[in-house]
Amino acid sequence: MKETDKGADTKSSMWAHVHLGRAMVGGEWISAQSGLTYEVHNPLTGEVLGRVPKMNAEDCRLAIGAAQDALPAWRDKLPAERSRLLMRWRELILDHREELAKLMVDEQGKPYSEARGEISYGASFIQWFAEEAVRDQGAIIPPFAHGRRLLVMKQPIGVVGAITPWNFPNAMITRKCAPALAAGCTVVVKPAEDTPLSALALAYLATEAGLPTGVFNVVTTNREGAPDIGETLCSDPRIRKVGFTGSTAVGKRVMALASSTVKRVSLELGGNAPFIVFNDAQLDLAIKGLFTSKFRNAGQTCICANRIFVHAEVMPRFTEMLLERVSRLKIGGGHERSVEIGPLINARALSRARDLISRAQEQGAQVLCGGKRLNVSLEEDKEGVFLQPTVLANVTSEMEISHAELFAPIVSLISFESEAEVIEMANDTPYGLAAYFFTEDHRRIWRVSERLEYGMVGVNDGAISTAVAPFGGVKESGIGREGSSWGLAEFTELKYVMIGGLG
Ligand code: SIN
Repeated sequence: MKETDKGADTKSSMWAHVHLGRAMVGGEWISAQSGLTYEVHNPLTGEVLGRVPKMNAEDCRLAIGAAQDALPAWRDKLPAERSRLLMRWRELILDHREELAKLMVDEQGKPYSEARGEISYGASFIQWFAEEAVRDQGAIIPPFAHGRRLLVMKQPIGVVGAITPWNFPNAMITRKCAPALAAGCTVVVKPAEDTPLSALALAYLATEAGLPTGVFNVVTTNREGAPDIGETLCSDPRIRKVGFTGSTAVGKRVMALASSTVKRVSLELGGNAPFIVFNDAQLDLAIKGLFTSKFRNAGQTCICANRIFVHAEVMPRFTEMLLERVSRLKIGGGHERSVEIGPLINARALSRARDLISRAQEQGAQVLCGGKRLNVSLEEDKEGVFLQPTVLANVTSEMEISHAELFAPIVSLISFESEAEVIEMANDTPYGLAAYFFTEDHRRIWRVSERLEYGMVGVNDGAISTAVAPFGGVKESGIGREGSSWGLAEFTELKYVMIGGLG
């Protein structure tokens, strides 16, 4: 078979498996034991993309058993062997970037360029952790007494449960699973109800890459079945660690359930990112940063700029520049190459965003543009769930909209007069995931970076995400870090060994 034919064959098999209506457990494509399935919809057209198993706690326990059985052999592989298999998985993902990106556009709605970017971003976590696998060293500690030797070894924590969100259907899986697999753990992934197909495609490619049976399992279920599977992953004693990305409310529940068996948790939860434009900022840079941060994935990321604080002196000019750029935003179906903003994930998300805007108006905010559902004409008379990019002026810290995670393309403008005042307003939230600020003053860069109570700070840039840096929040935005060498540490236990009688 020619190389290109081989590629085509893997592609058609991938689609066959993704659309088989089965999940991946113990190296097998299986149905739910109940035989139930649910529909996966395209958020743009509402069309049914496929059906996947509606699994329950019993199915999930089967997957945990498969991961548990696979653990000893995977843990005992040389790190270099695990690294090689992960690199092969990464290669296959990149070979299938086009197909995976198109699937993501269909399933999640984000524009094609972002979907393609996410596949590379997702693959970058696999590469980073495959490379780290062979460098994760323990330590020899100088002894406290003669005849003794003290050492610290790193061991995989065990079977990991990964509960992942719909906004990044690929990268949030690889960001959790690549470090787990690199460390020698096995995983059971529960992808978001709205986006299971991207997860199943990853499972197919993991199998093709040669990941052994039971090392990477995917259990699917719908919104109704999610609590059942989530609770099983969080309370089954065979799971030693749960990684979760999602809302703070659910994160608290994950933490409470995990406490019953004292599991380790990593929680990447909600945010309420301040985006501060000081009066000495380069305004064009700030506008560029705002667009990167605010409108990525139609405003549906945990680190999207949520409250836009602009110094009163530069507010008029900044607003003018903002409105001009917003008026040029291209909105539509993600497969159209020039589109910058796609639909929201579903009708509930749209109605929530519209309610937030109406209540902000009632509380005194002024809609400068947008605010309504956008009718983008689509084939077959189907209507996507689009919100017009919206700019609100005269927002204050007291309004509800300043305390809600927007998850929509809404820019909420709040005026400030001094550095001390804006830092106080920025920190006045239970969240602490990402913050951004723009200034040309190098002393202020240090001062403000240190005072913002956030896990991540972007200075003069709106794009902070990368596999090489620790991603995570403080306060109610979460616990633990993903990405970077700190992200690997989340999946290992330290074991202290003291050898005596050597004197
Ligand atoms: C998220 O919104 O949960 C992740 C965003 C990112 O990785 O950049």
